[in-house]
Amino acid sequence: MFAKDIYVARRNELKQKMESGLIILFGNNDASTNYPANTYRFRQDSTFLYYFGQKRDGLVGVIDVDNNREYLIGNDIDIDDIIWMGYTPSVADLAAEVGVEHSAPMSELQKIVNSAKSMGQQIHFLPQYRHDIMIQLSDLVGIHPLTTKDNASVKLIKAIVDMRAIKKPEEVEELKKAADIGYLMHTTAMKECKPGVTEKYVAGIIEGIAMSLGEKYSFQSILSMHGEIQHGYPSTRPMEAGRLMLCDAGAESMEHYCSDNTRVTPISGKFTMQQRGIYSAVEAAHDWVIENSKPGIKWFDIHMGACRIITDHLKQLGLMKGNTDDAVAAGAHAMFMPHGLGHMMGMDVHDMEGLGQVYVGFDDEVRPSTQFGTNCLRCGRRLQPGFVMTDEPGCYFIPHLIDLWKGQGMHKDFINYDEVEKYRNFGGVRLEDDIIITQTGCEVIGDKIIPYHIDDVEAFIAR
Ligand code: GLY
Ligand code: MN
Repeated sequence: MFAKDIYVARRNELKQKMESGLIILFGNNDASTNYPANTYRFRQDSTFLYYFGQKRDGLVGVIDVDNNREYLIGNDIDIDDIIWMGYTPSVADLAAEVGVEHSAPMSELQKIVNSAKSMGQQIHFLPQYRHDIMIQLSDLVGIHPLTTKDNASVKLIKAIVDMRAIKKPEEVEELKKAADIGYLMHTTAMKECKPGVTEKYVAGIIEGIAMSLGEKYSFQSILSMHGEIQHGYPSTRPMEAGRLMLCDAGAESMEHYCSDNTRVTPISGKFTMQQRGIYSAVEAAHDWVIENSKPGIKWFDIHMGACRIITDHLKQLGLMKGNTDDAVAAGAHAMFMPHGLGHMMGMDVHDMEGLGQVYVGFDDEVRPSTQFGTNCLRCGRRLQPGFVMTDEPGCYFIPHLIDLWKGQGMHKDFINYDEVEKYRNFGGVRLEDDIIITQTGCEVIGDKIIPYHIDDVEAFIAR
């Protein structure tokens, strides 16, 4: 937990931004896997953590802006819980730790909300992503459980996005800790990647590193010889000489700040000529993003710049043709890169995605695209100092997509389908690092950069 003053200051800033109303911020509850007492590893809600800092399940934070009263709501644990789980401080003690004056049992929450309503106060809540909380909220404010998104407070969403988007020094320290663990995860994956070893084995080892050194991994590791599957989870397949292993994985620090990196390792230890060509395209785009990201520039334009670089390289390799700007404007490059360049990152690996991408990554000036590929871009707006973004260009050969587009004659003025056939079983390449926008440009987060230049990767594996 950060110092108490940090949470007090964050809530005060939120109150100032909101001006009036009653804000309800739900913490998460334990969730069962296969029977009630066998639960998933608990993860607190990130917005709740941001303002109320406590990591226990079953808590709700309430901020009465009009009356300047704050509550931590939750039930104290009883002796049965203590026997099985150990002692946990009372809710009043948890509240005091983060500078909250009032605490109350869960049964009081309805009374607080009813009283606010009777005084004409507006009730502000966020869109919910867990069904138990949807039902709780439904009971509390009298809406259908599935309409929390439609009824959520846009003013509250915007105020929270404004605050969480700019990472403060104490948050950057945590991001660096997650990056350090990420470095160890990825360099270990590169060392363990050998013909005959299963994808699952390597993923298990690196997730173990995340679990031992941090809070946990920041999302289910993507680790596969089929890098063309965007979220290809590890299988029991043994790794094959000559193919590439794509590993997209990260860690969560003890304060729940994330890292998210992707590396591609040649399973035989050396890249083939064909692999070098595609890898170089992605490497050039990745480096260009670091050189060009700075305050004031639209992330949308950085995404498009990276797509143009990949298109230029694919033209040199004979896979694409025609005018680069026209090809990218038409969306032809999206056969090879059907995703966005990167997303915000913080306490959520896709930061604040649950609040609605249109509020997090876009604004009145930059609206989301509807074009295939670019419609997956999770952020387009102008960068500001303190924003943390992932820089993750990629190039993939997705057999079903190739067949579909080829059959439709899609973008045939820009794509050399005969040449593409030679890469049908290639897989995919993605390179990902996390950057923080500074006053003048950006910096890659972490003291040590996971090797990614072709010669560095081969030399690292050889050692
Ligand atoms: N690293 C996985 C993703 O960004 O979707
Ligand atoms: Mn990512």
